[in-house]
Amino acid sequence: MTLRLGDTAPGFTAQTTDGSIDFLEWKGDGWAVLFSHPKDYTPVCTTELGAVSGLKEEFAARNCKVIGLSVDPLDSHRGWAQDIHDVTGHALNFPLIADDDRAIANLYDMIHPNADDTMTVRSVFIIGPDNKIKLTLTYPASTGRNFQELLRVIDSLQLTATHSVATPANWEQGEDVIIAPSISDADAAERFPGFVTKKPYLRVTPSPVK
Ligand code: BEZ
Repeated sequence: MTLRLGDTAPGFTAQTTDGSIDFLEWKGDGWAVLFSHPKDYTPVCTTELGAVSGLKEEFAARNCKVIGLSVDPLDSHRGWAQDIHDVTGHALNFPLIADDDRAIANLYDMIHPNADDTMTVRSVFIIGPDNKIKLTLTYPASTGRNFQELLRVIDSLQLTATHSVATPANWEQGEDVIIAPSISDADAAERFPGFVTKKPYLRVTPSPVK
């Protein structure tokens, strides 16, 4: 199933390293990152799972839960978790789905047969409080993801969900933002006093959230 931005994230139940989980119930009314790994006991995945475990507090500060997926069984995940700890110094501290029948991988279109017909690619879905998909990313198996970038995107998504702004290239939390084109200059003057017009369609203002 191809999932696009704005689609409702499909629900599922799964066996995970933290027990059986009903995904949407587990997610609740917060944010979630669902991300897939090609295979257990592979080097790039090992570094990724350790890196995300090290960012637990950063995701929690954004009211965002994280859940991984690999198409191997639970006993394999449990053995691999020890390696992740050994190598990265971080204990696996979020659920890792055992998707050995590939049901969830297929549901979320994580297997791209022209890349590999059994392993998942490195998919990422960021899902909002309304259960809608806010971001999708697809990386090849050979490239580890940048999880600081996911935190940056979550900051942008959370800011733009509640303020009429967008965030420019390479934006980081606290930096100036762009006033949404749908806001008239008159409205902007009230809501963002002192905004700067760089072009009629590009108006900049300090971030409403510091
Ligand atoms: C890895 O995680 O290191 C990996 C997995 C599948 C293919 C290539 C690399």
